[in-house]
Amino acid sequence: METEENTVAITATPNGPFIVEGNFKLIDREGKAEVRKGRIALCRCGRSYKQPFCDGTHRKIHYNDLSLK
Ligand code: FES
Repeated sequence: METEENTVAITATPNGPFIVEGNFKLIDREGKAEVRKGRIALCRCGRSYKQPFCDGTHRKIHYNDLSLK
């Protein structure tokens, strides 16, 4: 059953990261899982130095998500 409490929202921000909100499991590339609750920003431009998280680099490189279409 879907409730506000167990729903994860993923929002693509204009020319920026994916905002993930809710209760979720973050699994790194080695397969290590970490249960999270709250809000995180995941890099969408691929240039963050803190992958998988956004570090603001998208602003410096003028990332434009419309140029990917
Ligand atoms: S989306 Fe922010 S650094 Fe990539």
